Amino acid sequence: MEIITSTKAMQERAIELKKQGHSIGFTPTMGFLHEGHLKLVKHSSQQNDITVMSIFVNPLQFGPNEDFDAYPRDVERDKKLADNAGVSILFLPERSDMYPNEPSFEINVAKRTDVLCGRSRPGHFNGVATILIKLFNIIMPEKVYFGMKDAQQVAVVDSLIKDFNFPIHLIPVETEREEDGLARSSRNVYLSDEERNQAPHLYKGLQKGAEAIRNGEINPATVIHIVEEYIKTNTNGKIDYIELLSFPDLEALNKVHGKIIIALAVKFSKARLIDNIILETQS
Ligand code: PAF
Repeated sequence: MEIITSTKAMQERAIELKKQGHSIGFTPTMGFLHEGHLKLVKHSSQQNDITVMSIFVNPLQFGPNEDFDAYPRDVERDKKLADNAGVSILFLPERSDMYPNEPSFEINVAKRTDVLCGRSRPGHFNGVATILIKLFNIIMPEKVYFGMKDAQQVAVVDSLIKDFNFPIHLIPVETEREEDGLARSSRNVYLSDEERNQAPHLYKGLQKGAEAIRNGEINPATVIHIVEEYIKTNTNGKIDYIELLSFPDLEALNKVHGKIIIALAVKFSKARLIDNIILETQS
């Protein structure tokens, strides 16, 4: 596995690879890799000649009271995992190289962000979009791989690629789960033992909501109530949001129809976890 730390060297390498006719698949990450990230790499390696993974904890997407400083980091461990998983190039840029100057432009994501994490983390997706525009221009991938655990991010990246005409194909990859159903996340390490036992109930709660829909429930408020009651009964987590929206437009619905997402964020003492379920409904 090749390791590149400078933005200039990465871009030159990407240009060279493309001149040689190689296809590039890209998995952007913030490190502290888990099975979810490795699954993205697996898909990329199967579909491209070269798989680039970036590890960069992007300060722009964290709010002032969020966990930027505490975000888990272990680059040496990540290097081994990335290498074993089949990453061809690991891009590890420095903050001073990614953001050398006070930026002249501010990216403002205008749609798909007034709900879910966009509402409770103002500015988060502006930061995500900014770093991705930079990474897409540096790495010039044909395909990019994103996990569906952050379905809103997938919806925003979908718009970003279309709105800015990036010649990139977005490949959403199904959420990787522990055996008990908990979605894999770098933040799971911050759960206490008791919270870790409770955390699988987030997905179980979402499944209860999906089950109600499959049994004919069409009122979004009722579905949300079912999920809410289940999570309140089975965890001590503080519900940040539970929402039912159209997918990928992320618009509120009067009645459950078409492709929908039920998504939630729940705060435990040191970790805020997100999860979702997407359903294709009949009417
Ligand atoms: O999903 C993440 O880890 C981050 O939001 C991303 C896409 C790497 C951008 O910093």
